[in-house]
Amino acid sequence: MFGPAKLAIKNVIRPLIYRYPPIMIRPERLLLWKQTVIDTADVPGEVIEVGCYLGGTSAVTAKMMANLGIKKKYSAYDTFSGFVENQVKTDNAASVQHHFSANSPKLTRWVLNRHGGENVAIIQGDIASLPDTDLPDALSACLLDVDLSEPIYLGLKRILPRLSAGGIILVDDCEDGGWYKARVGYEQYMLELGQPPLYKYGMGILKKSN
Ligand SMILES: C[S@@+](CC[C@H](N)C(=O)[O-])C[C@H]1O[C@@H](n2cnc3c(N)ncnc32)[C@H](O)[C@@H]1O
Repeated sequence: MFGPAKLAIKNVIRPLIYRYPPIMIRPERLLLWKQTVIDTADVPGEVIEVGCYLGGTSAVTAKMMANLGIKKKYSAYDTFSGFVENQVKTDNAASVQHHFSANSPKLTRWVLNRHGGENVAIIQGDIASLPDTDLPDALSACLLDVDLSEPIYLGLKRILPRLSAGGIILVDDCEDGGWYKARVGYEQYMLELGQPPLYKYGMGILKKSN
């Protein structure tokens, strides 16, 4: 089914299909992400999730932050139309071209509001090319979950300079032998930095030392 038709149906039946937060990352990775946000609570800067899809992970993490009194802005980034065509081509991944495409900022806003993420900011754009002014000046934690090698590599390149000392970036889908090419982009960037890759639960980790 085409994206617009699928999106229209999703919008109509959203109270039913999104009565629980639609969280796409694995439970152990969600645990690691939420623990990272807690562990970096005293590091200056904001929290961002790049590749938020419908906002399920953003909503539960923002709710946790409110419960724990972590008063930081949480921003959720996405194209809201799935993968960028030339980034799919780079990874020779035509079969995923339409994954996550039946989405919109409006639908994600609804999901966020329904599940405790009312204060999460939504920013639409390609992480490789959105304006610098759309990124916070300082970050304490980032979940980078855009699956393909190019947006992971370019995302890291743009985000690391904004990460405060003690801050942490987690890159999803870096398991060995995994289908997505996030690991390729992560390893390429770590090689350039001259740091060994570090993995936990299939996520690549990049910590800026104090
Ligand atoms: C696996 S989903 C994210 C799941 C979400 N983090 C969660 O935990 O529920 C990947 C998302 O990355 C987005 N995406 C892919 N390429 C992107 C890019 N270049 N810039 C921004 N978002 C992108 C897709 O639209 C999709 O919604």
